[in-house]
Formats: sequence, structure tokens, C-alpha cells
Amino acid sequence: MTVIPLRFVGDPVLREPAKPVETFDAELRQLVKDLRETLANGRGAGLAAPQIGVGLRVFAIHPDLSDGTLDHLVNPTITFPDDEEQDGIEGCLSIPGVYLDTKRRMNVVATGFNFHGDPVQIVGAGLLSRCVQHETDHLDGVLFLDRQDPEGQRRIMATLSAATWFDGYEGREPVVKVSPH
Ligand code: NI
Repeated sequence: MTVIPLRFVGDPVLREPAKPVETFDAELRQLVKDLRETLANGRGAGLAAPQIGVGLRVFAIHPDLSDGTLDHLVNPTITFPDDEEQDGIEGCLSIPGVYLDTKRRMNVVATGFNFHGDPVQIVGAGLLSRCVQHETDHLDGVLFLDRQDPEGQRRIMATLSAATWFDGYEGREPVVKVSPH
């Protein structure tokens, strides 16, 4: 059982668009194994490779969400079969302690590959759809904070600024109060 240390918001790897996987080799199988085991150790619905410091387009999904049929996706492409939306609480293992109502599409179709290189597809609704959209965002360098309205983002900044692990949210550094003396 391998648990890789997670990367937290402020780490540049979470903001870089991940690169497509080109070789379906032992290294990729190890990456998927690391994602699965690190996810199993946490309380998340999914985990994307950049969250363990690897800039490749791979994510793992908690097997409970996908009926255990497919628990990872390589080089995903997502499409939306309709316009239906959902609201619901969302969190992220890279942003501990922050849970926010986040609007997402209700239904998603994700196509990609398993780690053997076989084409696979996930047809998801509800929580599975939310998870697939959240993890695909990670591969594009997008965090669920970015999907909040300005008021929501202000509240997040207040929470993050107080967190001991936090060392800056990109250009928007927490305000440091400097004593005039
Ligand atoms: Ni996340």
C-alpha cells in the first residue's frame, strides 16, 4: 500500500495543464496503482495525477461511485448529453476543510482509456458525473474554487488564509498585516 503525499492549492503543479499519456507501460500502471491507493487512504470521491505531483492526464475514481466497473480513466474527454444541471456540496483533497455548493452538469459521458490502452467510456449521473467533471478540471489546471462566485471566493480566501498548510493561492496571496512599528 503506497500513499503518496498530496499536493495542496498554491502548488504550481495543480495549475499546469496535464500532458496526455502516450505510453501505456508499467510506469502508467504504477501511477494508477498509486492514485487508487492514495485515494483509498483519503476520503475523496476521486483523485487526479497532478494532486500527487504527476502532470499526466489520469485520474482515479472511488470504486463505490462507478459500481467497481472502472476506477480510473486515462486521457479523458468529456461531453454533456443534455443541459441539466445539479447543485451540491463539493470538496477537494488538495483543499482540505473547504466544502462549497458547486454547480455542475447532471449528466456526463467520459471517454478515454484504461491503463492497458483499451478504449473505455463512463456514462455518469449525479455524484459520479460531478466527480468526473471535478477530476477532468484538475487535468486542465482548474480547481473547484474557480467555479465559485466572487462572494464564495472571498469566503474561501478567508478560510485558506487561516490554514497552516496554505502558502498562497496563485497571484492572490493572503494579505499579511505588517506592523507600522
Ligand atoms: Ni480535487
